[in-house]
Amino acid sequence: MALNVPKLKFQNGNEIPAFGLGTWKSRPGEVTEAVKYAIDVGYRHIDCATAYENEKEVGAAIKAKIAEGKVKREDLFVTGKVWNNSHKYELVEPALRSTLSDLGLSYVDLYLIHWPYAYRAGPELFPKNAEGNPDIDTDVDYLETWRGMESVLAKGLTKNIGVCNFNSEQVDRLLANCKVKPVAIQMECHPYLNQKRLSDFCKQRGLVVIAFSPLGSPDRPWAKPDDPKLMDDKSLIEVGKKYKKTPVQVLIRYQIDRGHAVIPKSTIKSEILENAQIFDFKLSAEDIAYINTLDCNGRICPQFGCEWNPLYPFNIPF
Ligand SMILES: NC(=O)c1ccc[n+]([C@@H]2O[C@H](COP(=O)([O-])OP(=O)(O)OC[C@H]3O[C@@H](n4cnc5c(N)ncnc54)[C@H](OP(=O)(O)O)[C@@H]3O)[C@@H](O)[C@H]2O)c1
Repeated sequence: MALNVPKLKFQNGNEIPAFGLGTWKSRPGEVTEAVKYAIDVGYRHIDCATAYENEKEVGAAIKAKIAEGKVKREDLFVTGKVWNNSHKYELVEPALRSTLSDLGLSYVDLYLIHWPYAYRAGPELFPKNAEGNPDIDTDVDYLETWRGMESVLAKGLTKNIGVCNFNSEQVDRLLANCKVKPVAIQMECHPYLNQKRLSDFCKQRGLVVIAFSPLGSPDRPWAKPDDPKLMDDKSLIEVGKKYKKTPVQVLIRYQIDRGHAVIPKSTIKSEILENAQIFDFKLSAEDIAYINTLDCNGRICPQFGCEWNPLYPFNIPF
Protein backbone atom coordinates (compact mmCIF):
# COMPACT_ATOMS: atom_id res chain seq x y z
CA MET A 1 0.00 0.00 0.00
CA ALA A 2 1.32 3.47 -0.78
CA LEU A 3 0.41 6.50 1.25
CA ASN A 4 0.65 9.91 -0.32
CA VAL A 5 2.88 11.26 2.47
CA PRO A 6 4.44 14.65 1.74
CA LYS A 7 8.14 15.08 2.45
CA LEU A 8 9.73 18.05 4.16
CA LYS A 9 13.15 19.23 3.05
CA PHE A 10 15.94 19.77 5.54
CA GLN A 11 18.32 22.67 5.04
CA ASN A 12 21.04 20.16 4.03
CA GLY A 13 18.87 18.95 1.12
CA ASN A 14 17.81 15.65 2.71
CA GLU A 15 14.12 14.89 3.23
CA ILE A 16 11.87 13.50 5.96
CA PRO A 17 8.41 11.97 5.47
CA ALA A 18 5.99 14.32 7.24
CA PHE A 19 4.17 11.41 8.87
CA GLY A 20 5.54 8.55 10.95
CA LEU A 21 4.91 6.10 13.77
CA GLY A 22 5.74 6.95 17.40
CA THR A 23 7.02 4.14 19.64
CA TRP A 24 7.21 5.61 23.17
CA LYS A 25 5.27 3.31 25.57
CA SER A 26 4.79 0.72 22.84
CA ARG A 27 5.23 -2.51 24.73
CA PRO A 28 8.10 -4.70 23.57
CA GLY A 29 5.67 -7.58 23.10
CA GLU A 30 3.45 -5.51 20.80
CA VAL A 31 5.70 -3.11 18.97
CA THR A 32 7.17 -5.59 16.46
CA GLU A 33 3.71 -6.40 15.09
CA ALA A 34 2.73 -2.72 15.19
CA VAL A 35 5.75 -1.61 13.18
CA LYS A 36 5.35 -4.46 10.70
CA TYR A 37 1.71 -3.55 10.16
CA ALA A 38 2.57 0.15 9.89
CA ILE A 39 5.10 -0.60 7.16
CA ASP A 40 2.53 -2.79 5.38
CA VAL A 41 0.01 0.06 5.27
CA GLY A 42 2.56 2.57 4.05
CA TYR A 43 4.34 4.16 7.03
CA ARG A 44 7.97 4.84 6.15
CA HIS A 45 9.07 6.96 9.12
CA ILE A 46 9.59 5.32 12.53
CA ASP A 47 10.42 7.38 15.60
CA CYS A 48 12.59 5.53 18.13
CA ALA A 49 14.67 6.30 21.20
CA THR A 50 16.97 4.49 23.59
CA ALA A 51 14.77 5.61 26.48
CA TYR A 52 11.76 3.76 25.04
CA GLU A 53 13.55 0.48 25.78
CA ASN A 54 12.06 -1.31 22.78
CA GLU A 55 14.51 -0.67 19.95
CA LYS A 56 15.39 -4.37 19.57
CA GLU A 57 11.73 -5.17 18.97
CA VAL A 58 11.34 -2.26 16.53
CA GLY A 59 14.47 -3.49 14.76
CA ALA A 60 13.01 -7.00 14.45
CA ALA A 61 10.08 -5.56 12.50
CA ILE A 62 12.32 -3.53 10.20
CA LYS A 63 14.52 -6.55 9.58
CA ALA A 64 11.51 -8.75 8.78
CA LYS A 65 10.04 -6.26 6.33
CA ILE A 66 13.35 -5.76 4.54
CA ALA A 67 13.91 -9.55 4.42
CA GLU A 68 10.51 -10.16 2.88
CA GLY A 69 11.18 -7.49 0.23
CA LYS A 70 8.38 -5.19 1.37
CA VAL A 71 10.78 -2.26 1.72
CA LYS A 72 14.41 -1.47 1.21
CA ARG A 73 16.44 0.18 3.96
CA GLU A 74 16.62 3.37 1.93
CA ASP A 75 12.80 3.54 1.75
CA LEU A 76 12.65 3.96 5.53
CA PHE A 77 13.35 7.00 7.68
CA VAL A 78 14.38 5.87 11.16
CA THR A 79 14.99 8.34 14.00
CA GLY A 80 17.03 7.63 17.13
CA LYS A 81 17.74 9.80 20.18
CA VAL A 82 20.73 10.08 22.47
CA TRP A 83 19.53 9.66 26.04
CA ASN A 84 20.42 11.93 28.94
CA ASN A 85 22.92 9.50 30.48
CA SER A 86 25.12 9.70 27.36
CA HIS A 87 25.59 13.44 26.91
CA LYS A 88 29.35 13.54 27.41
CA TYR A 89 31.20 13.90 24.12
CA GLU A 90 32.82 10.48 24.31
CA LEU A 91 29.53 8.73 25.15
CA VAL A 92 27.50 9.85 22.12
CA GLU A 93 29.09 7.46 19.64
CA PRO A 94 28.81 4.36 21.87
CA ALA A 95 25.17 5.30 22.55
CA LEU A 96 24.39 5.50 18.85
CA ARG A 97 26.32 2.29 18.11
CA SER A 98 24.27 0.51 20.75
CA THR A 99 21.04 1.84 19.17
CA LEU A 100 22.22 0.71 15.73
CA SER A 101 23.02 -2.72 17.09
CA ASP A 102 19.55 -2.97 18.69
CA LEU A 103 17.80 -1.73 15.54
CA GLY A 104 19.96 -3.94 13.32
CA LEU A 105 20.91 -0.98 11.13
CA SER A 106 24.18 0.54 9.95
CA TYR A 107 22.84 4.10 10.18
CA VAL A 108 19.82 6.06 11.38
CA ASP A 109 18.30 8.79 9.25
CA LEU A 110 18.06 11.28 12.08
CA TYR A 111 19.75 11.34 15.48
CA LEU A 112 18.40 13.77 18.05
CA ILE A 113 19.47 15.03 21.48
CA HIS A 114 16.44 13.89 23.51
CA TRP A 115 16.66 16.61 26.21
CA PRO A 116 19.00 19.60 26.61
CA TYR A 117 20.31 18.51 30.03
CA ALA A 118 22.32 15.49 31.13
CA TYR A 119 21.72 12.82 33.74
CA ARG A 120 24.52 11.19 35.68
CA ALA A 121 26.47 9.10 33.19
CA GLY A 122 26.34 5.37 33.68
CA PRO A 123 24.39 2.29 32.77
CA GLU A 124 21.17 3.43 34.46
CA LEU A 125 18.77 5.20 32.11
CA PHE A 126 16.92 6.90 34.95
CA PRO A 127 19.38 7.55 37.81
CA LYS A 128 17.80 9.16 40.87
CA ASN A 129 19.20 11.63 43.39
CA ALA A 130 18.64 11.45 47.16
CA GLU A 131 15.20 13.08 46.81
CA GLY A 132 14.13 10.48 44.27
CA ASN A 133 14.27 12.96 41.39
CA PRO A 134 16.30 12.56 38.18
CA ASP A 135 20.03 12.83 38.98
CA ILE A 136 21.07 15.73 36.76
CA ASP A 137 24.72 16.40 35.92
CA THR A 138 24.85 20.17 35.51
CA ASP A 139 28.49 20.02 34.36
CA VAL A 140 27.57 18.69 30.94
CA ASP A 141 26.51 21.28 28.39
CA TYR A 142 24.50 20.36 25.29
CA LEU A 143 27.20 22.09 23.21
CA GLU A 144 29.53 19.27 24.27
CA THR A 145 26.87 16.71 23.31
CA TRP A 146 26.45 18.47 19.97
CA ARG A 147 30.14 17.99 19.16
CA GLY A 148 29.48 14.29 19.65
CA MET A 149 26.50 14.54 17.30
CA GLU A 150 28.67 16.24 14.66
CA SER A 151 31.21 13.47 15.04
CA VAL A 152 28.71 10.60 14.50
CA LEU A 153 27.33 12.49 11.50
CA ALA A 154 30.82 12.76 10.01
CA LYS A 155 31.28 9.00 10.52
CA GLY A 156 28.08 8.24 8.61
CA LEU A 157 26.32 6.64 11.59
CA THR A 158 23.45 9.06 11.04
CA LYS A 159 22.37 11.02 7.97
CA ASN A 160 21.07 14.04 9.89
CA ILE A 161 21.25 15.53 13.38
CA GLY A 162 18.86 17.60 15.45
CA VAL A 163 17.38 18.25 18.89
CA CYS A 164 14.24 17.77 20.97
CA ASN A 165 12.75 19.85 23.77
CA PHE A 166 15.07 22.84 23.25
CA ASN A 167 13.66 26.32 23.89
CA SER A 168 14.25 29.31 21.60
CA GLU A 169 17.33 30.50 23.52
CA GLN A 170 18.86 27.04 23.44
CA VAL A 171 18.24 26.77 19.69
CA ASP A 172 19.93 30.12 19.08
CA ARG A 173 22.87 29.33 21.36
CA LEU A 174 23.37 26.03 19.53
CA LEU A 175 23.17 27.73 16.13
CA ALA A 176 25.76 30.27 17.23
CA ASN A 177 28.17 27.58 18.45
CA CYS A 178 27.93 24.67 16.03
CA LYS A 179 29.82 23.54 12.97
CA VAL A 180 26.82 21.63 11.58
CA LYS A 181 23.38 23.16 12.08
CA PRO A 182 20.55 21.04 13.48
CA VAL A 183 18.08 20.19 10.70
CA ALA A 184 15.09 19.41 12.90
CA ILE A 185 13.53 19.92 16.31
CA GLN A 186 11.02 17.62 17.98
CA MET A 187 8.65 19.42 20.28
CA GLU A 188 5.44 18.60 22.09
CA CYS A 189 2.73 20.03 19.86
CA HIS A 190 -1.08 19.71 19.82
CA PRO A 191 -4.00 22.15 20.07
CA TYR A 192 -3.67 22.60 23.86
CA LEU A 193 0.02 23.58 23.35
CA ASN A 194 0.19 24.67 19.74
CA GLN A 195 3.74 26.05 19.95
CA LYS A 196 3.06 28.80 17.44
CA ARG A 197 5.94 30.98 18.62
CA LEU A 198 8.56 28.24 18.91
CA SER A 199 7.47 26.69 15.61
CA ASP A 200 7.73 30.02 13.75
CA PHE A 201 11.06 30.73 15.45
CA CYS A 202 12.54 27.38 14.42
CA LYS A 203 11.15 27.49 10.89
CA GLN A 204 12.68 30.95 10.41
CA ARG A 205 16.03 29.42 11.32
CA GLY A 206 15.62 26.55 8.86
CA LEU A 207 14.71 23.75 11.30
CA VAL A 208 11.95 21.31 10.41
CA VAL A 209 9.45 20.90 13.26
CA ILE A 210 8.42 17.36 14.24
CA ALA A 211 5.32 17.36 16.45
CA PHE A 212 5.30 14.79 19.25
CA SER A 213 2.36 13.76 21.44
CA PRO A 214 0.04 15.11 18.71
CA LEU A 215 -2.96 13.28 20.20
CA GLY A 216 -2.29 14.51 23.72
CA SER A 217 -0.50 11.33 24.79
CA PRO A 218 -3.43 9.85 26.75
CA ASP A 219 -1.28 6.84 27.74
CA ARG A 220 1.43 9.00 29.38
CA PRO A 221 2.29 7.28 32.66
CA TRP A 222 1.38 10.31 34.81
CA ALA A 223 -2.07 10.94 33.27
CA LYS A 224 -4.83 11.30 35.88
CA PRO A 225 -8.32 9.96 35.23
CA ASP A 226 -9.92 13.43 35.26
CA ASP A 227 -7.30 15.12 33.04
CA PRO A 228 -9.01 16.53 29.93
CA LYS A 229 -8.62 14.16 26.99
CA LEU A 230 -7.71 16.05 23.84
CA MET A 231 -9.23 13.56 21.42
CA ASP A 232 -12.60 13.88 23.21
CA ASP A 233 -12.65 17.67 22.78
CA LYS A 234 -16.07 18.65 21.37
CA SER A 235 -14.54 21.34 19.15
CA LEU A 236 -12.38 18.75 17.38
CA ILE A 237 -15.32 16.39 17.01
CA GLU A 238 -17.26 19.22 15.33
CA VAL A 239 -14.41 20.07 12.97
CA GLY A 240 -14.03 16.39 12.10
CA LYS A 241 -17.71 16.09 11.15
CA LYS A 242 -17.21 18.68 8.39
CA TYR A 243 -14.59 16.49 6.74
CA LYS A 244 -16.08 13.11 7.74
CA LYS A 245 -12.96 12.48 9.79
CA THR A 246 -12.36 11.47 13.40
CA PRO A 247 -10.96 13.95 15.95
CA VAL A 248 -7.72 11.95 15.90
CA GLN A 249 -7.43 12.40 12.15
CA VAL A 250 -8.07 16.13 12.59
CA LEU A 251 -5.29 16.26 15.19
CA ILE A 252 -2.79 14.61 12.85
CA ARG A 253 -3.83 16.67 9.83
CA TYR A 254 -3.55 19.83 11.96
CA GLN A 255 0.20 19.24 12.17
CA ILE A 256 0.70 18.40 8.48
CA ASP A 257 -1.27 21.49 7.43
CA ARG A 258 0.95 23.66 9.63
CA GLY A 259 4.04 22.38 7.81
CA HIS A 260 5.09 20.05 10.63
CA ALA A 261 6.07 16.41 10.54
CA VAL A 262 3.99 14.33 12.97
CA ILE A 263 4.52 10.97 14.70
CA PRO A 264 1.36 9.62 16.39
CA LYS A 265 1.89 6.45 18.41
CA SER A 266 -0.33 3.40 18.35
CA THR A 267 0.07 -0.35 18.66
CA ILE A 268 -3.51 -1.15 17.61
CA LYS A 269 -3.86 -2.06 13.95
CA SER A 270 -7.18 -0.30 13.35
CA GLU A 271 -5.77 2.88 14.90
CA ILE A 272 -2.49 2.67 13.00
CA LEU A 273 -4.60 2.54 9.85
CA GLU A 274 -7.01 5.28 10.95
CA ASN A 275 -4.10 7.58 11.72
CA ALA A 276 -2.73 7.13 8.21
CA GLN A 277 -6.01 7.93 6.48
CA ILE A 278 -5.40 11.64 6.42
CA PHE A 279 -4.02 12.24 2.96
CA ASP A 280 -7.38 12.73 1.27
CA PHE A 281 -8.34 15.98 3.01
CA LYS A 282 -6.89 19.27 4.15
CA LEU A 283 -8.04 21.57 6.94
CA SER A 284 -9.11 25.05 5.86
CA ALA A 285 -7.20 28.08 7.13
CA GLU A 286 -10.30 29.00 9.15
CA ASP A 287 -10.41 25.61 10.85
CA ILE A 288 -6.71 25.78 11.67
CA ALA A 289 -7.21 29.26 13.13
CA TYR A 290 -10.16 27.93 15.16
CA ILE A 291 -8.17 24.95 16.47
CA ASN A 292 -5.38 27.37 17.38
CA THR A 293 -7.78 29.08 19.80
CA LEU A 294 -7.87 25.91 21.96
CA ASP A 295 -4.34 26.60 23.22
CA CYS A 296 -4.20 26.69 27.02
CA ASN A 297 -0.45 26.25 27.61
CA GLY A 298 -1.37 22.63 28.29
CA ARG A 299 2.03 20.96 28.40
CA ILE A 300 1.81 17.27 29.18
CA CYS A 301 5.48 16.17 28.88
CA PRO A 302 7.35 18.41 31.32
CA GLN A 303 9.89 15.95 32.90
CA PHE A 304 9.00 16.34 36.55
CA GLY A 305 11.75 16.96 39.07
CA CYS A 306 14.08 18.64 36.53
CA GLU A 307 12.64 22.16 36.67
CA TRP A 308 15.38 23.60 38.93
CA ASN A 309 18.28 22.96 36.57
CA PRO A 310 19.65 25.80 34.44
CA LEU A 311 19.17 23.88 31.18
CA TYR A 312 15.53 23.02 31.89
CA PRO A 313 13.82 24.32 28.73
CA PHE A 314 10.35 25.24 29.93
CA ASN A 315 11.07 28.06 32.39
CA ILE A 316 10.83 30.77 29.70
CA PRO A 317 7.78 31.61 27.57
CA PHE A 318 9.02 29.58 24.58
N1 LIG B 1 11.30 13.73 21.77
C1 LIG B 1 10.56 13.59 22.84
O1 LIG B 1 10.91 14.05 23.94
C2 LIG B 1 9.25 12.86 22.74
C3 LIG B 1 8.33 12.94 23.81
C4 LIG B 1 7.12 12.30 23.69
C5 LIG B 1 6.83 11.58 22.54
N2 LIG B 1 7.74 11.48 21.52
C6 LIG B 1 7.45 10.68 20.30
O2 LIG B 1 6.18 11.04 19.80
C7 LIG B 1 5.35 9.89 19.72
C8 LIG B 1 3.89 10.26 19.91
O3 LIG B 1 3.66 10.83 21.18
P1 LIG B 1 2.96 10.06 22.39
O4 LIG B 1 3.26 8.61 22.31
O5 LIG B 1 3.37 10.80 23.61
O6 LIG B 1 1.42 10.30 22.25
P2 LIG B 1 0.32 10.44 21.12
O7 LIG B 1 0.78 9.90 19.83
O8 LIG B 1 -0.18 11.82 21.21
O9 LIG B 1 -0.83 9.50 21.72
C9 LIG B 1 -0.65 8.10 21.82
C10 LIG B 1 -1.91 7.54 22.47
O10 LIG B 1 -3.02 7.75 21.60
C11 LIG B 1 -3.70 6.52 21.38
N3 LIG B 1 -4.16 6.50 20.00
C12 LIG B 1 -3.41 6.50 18.89
N4 LIG B 1 -4.17 6.49 17.78
C13 LIG B 1 -5.45 6.46 18.22
C14 LIG B 1 -6.70 6.41 17.55
N5 LIG B 1 -6.76 6.41 16.24
N6 LIG B 1 -7.83 6.40 18.32
C15 LIG B 1 -7.76 6.39 19.66
N7 LIG B 1 -6.60 6.43 20.36
C16 LIG B 1 -5.45 6.46 19.63
C17 LIG B 1 -2.65 5.45 21.65
O11 LIG B 1 -3.28 4.27 22.06
P3 LIG B 1 -2.88 2.81 21.48
O12 LIG B 1 -1.40 2.66 21.44
O13 LIG B 1 -3.56 1.89 22.40
O14 LIG B 1 -3.47 2.79 20.09
C18 LIG B 1 -1.89 6.08 22.80
O15 LIG B 1 -2.59 5.88 24.00
C19 LIG B 1 5.92 9.00 20.82
O16 LIG B 1 5.44 7.68 20.75
C20 LIG B 1 7.39 9.18 20.59
O17 LIG B 1 7.82 8.41 19.47
C21 LIG B 1 8.94 12.14 21.60
